Amino acid sequence: MTGASRGIGRAIARAFAEKGDRVAVHYASNREDAERTLGELPGSGHGLVQGDLSDPEVARRVADEAEALVDGVGVLVNNAAFAPSASSAHPPAEVSYVDWQRVWRRMLDVNVLGTANVTFCVTRHMIERGVPGRVVNIGSRGAFKGEPDFPAYGASKAALHSFGQSLAVALAPHGIAVTSVAPGFTATDRVAAKLDGTSGEVLRGESPFGRVGTPEEVAAAVVYLASAEATWASGAILDLNGASHLRM
Ligand SMILES: NC(=O)c1ccc[n+]([C@@H]2O[C@H](COP(=O)([O-])OP(=O)(O)OC[C@H]3O[C@@H](n4cnc5c(N)ncnc54)[C@H](OP(=O)(O)O)[C@@H]3O)[C@@H](O)[C@H]2O)c1
Repeated sequence: MTGASRGIGRAIARAFAEKGDRVAVHYASNREDAERTLGELPGSGHGLVQGDLSDPEVARRVADEAEALVDGVGVLVNNAAFAPSASSAHPPAEVSYVDWQRVWRRMLDVNVLGTANVTFCVTRHMIERGVPGRVVNIGSRGAFKGEPDFPAYGASKAALHSFGQSLAVALAPHGIAVTSVAPGFTATDRVAAKLDGTSGEVLRGESPFGRVGTPEEVAAAVVYLASAEATWASGAILDLNGASHLRM
């Protein structure tokens, strides 16, 4: 479970632990928060795995440590991301060229290459063990709707959706099903301030339900997609956006 120190990752870790799974709680640098996630998990056998996934050797170590920690990873959830924040905004008409390049590099290194590398390493373990596996990618509505202030983020999530589709075909013969979810705005600590005042009204108004999504709603979908019953969903990209953006 990558990026499980907070937000959506924490909710997904909790959902798997609640159904009796052992969880390798991965984080990049926020150890205190990762320990909080770990402390909230029911059951036993869970543990922490640290590492910045933008480094290919670290991604390999993270995969190996998770494999050892839970005696073989059966489900990989690719949730870790360099996600939008005030400091990573890069509207093309305003940002400097230096910052434009810096943010694009980091978004692609973490969100695309980091995910690709950790997935390669974890699924190789699955193939070697000869057991069925699951990969669920946490993509984004922004891949379809556009991210005008964060175009690198939108592109990285579109790449993740495409990566999931390619892997679904490539890994099906090994009994590994691969899916993605594309959440709309989801109320996590990272984005909590945006839910205040006028911006909150606008965000809630995007959905005809008049609210934004919750981390628990994303977690429930991920648990379903990781289940044995969801094998036939392999290759799917599941919208989780309260009908705020409909695609063909
Ligand atoms: N919240 C939303 O509205 C929303 C909507 C659509 C999609 N999503 C997607 O859902 C996922 C979780 O979102 P969130 O809001 O819960 O994000 P978040 O609170 O920012 O959490 C991001 C997680 O990724 C980890 N991470 C960041 N950089 C990393 C790196 N270089 N290497 C390894 N791990 C790294 C963080 O670890 P540390 O804490 O240790 O830094 C943290 O655990 C992301 O993929 C995001 O793109 C979110």
